[in-house]
Amino acid sequence: MAATILSGKRERLYKVLVVGELGSGKTSIIKRYVHQFFSQHYRATIGVDFALKVLRWDGDTVVRLQLWDVAGQERFGSMTRVYYKEAVGAFVVFDVTRSATLEAVPKWKADLDSKVALPDGRPIPTVLLANKSDQPKEGIAASREKMNEFCQQQGFSAWFETSAKENINIDESANFLVSKILEMDRWSQEATVPDPDKVDISANGKHKLNSSSNCAC
Ligand code: GTP
Ligand code: MG
Repeated sequence: MAATILSGKRERLYKVLVVGELGSGKTSIIKRYVHQFFSQHYRATIGVDFALKVLRWDGDTVVRLQLWDVAGQERFGSMTRVYYKEAVGAFVVFDVTRSATLEAVPKWKADLDSKVALPDGRPIPTVLLANKSDQPKEGIAASREKMNEFCQQQGFSAWFETSAKENINIDESANFLVSKILEMDRWSQEATVPDPDKVDISANGKHKLNSSSNCAC
């Protein structure tokens, strides 16, 4: 977390992780959120990709969200500890049409909780996204009650049904996570924002390492 005051405006920079199984729609959600764009074409993310979303949160607060789009295939890799470092919030994404992607959610949540925490040791606020909600749902994704229960058991701050394709609940879920992060942050730390230009985003966007239904469960 970092803060600075630029021309009367308070700026916050937050690192937010987006994780979940292969093909669940992480990249699509980020593309929709940041670039207002959707494609049916699937190209698996390799390693990690980045995107930056700038939010004019209120009259004098600007929030810069640095979104880390972690490849689904990374769960068994050793890199997640490096990727997760200093994150202050996360989305775990699953695909409502494939219950196996929901069954993998506890492993992603446990991976997060074992590798990253807030400075005071609490888990980082994490929101579960039930994506592809424009499609027929499989398994417990079809039951709001069961999803509420699951979300609570797993320690998520909330869950949202999303569709990157139809632009459903993308802004809402992000706003919810940002409000949780701001609540927890409470402007307590006055540090300097690292220059975002120093984050090495190469031309192809790869990082070089140097409701509908939501419950606030
Ligand atoms: P990895 O990078 O391999 O981990 O996958 P990912 O989670 O980034 O998935 P990606 O965003 O690449 O999406 C996978 C496929 O699902 C693509 O063909 C997308 O077009 C499709 N998809 C993503 N979101 C939605 C959605 O909300 N609805 C529908 N119908 N399809 C979606
Ligand atoms: Mg991807």
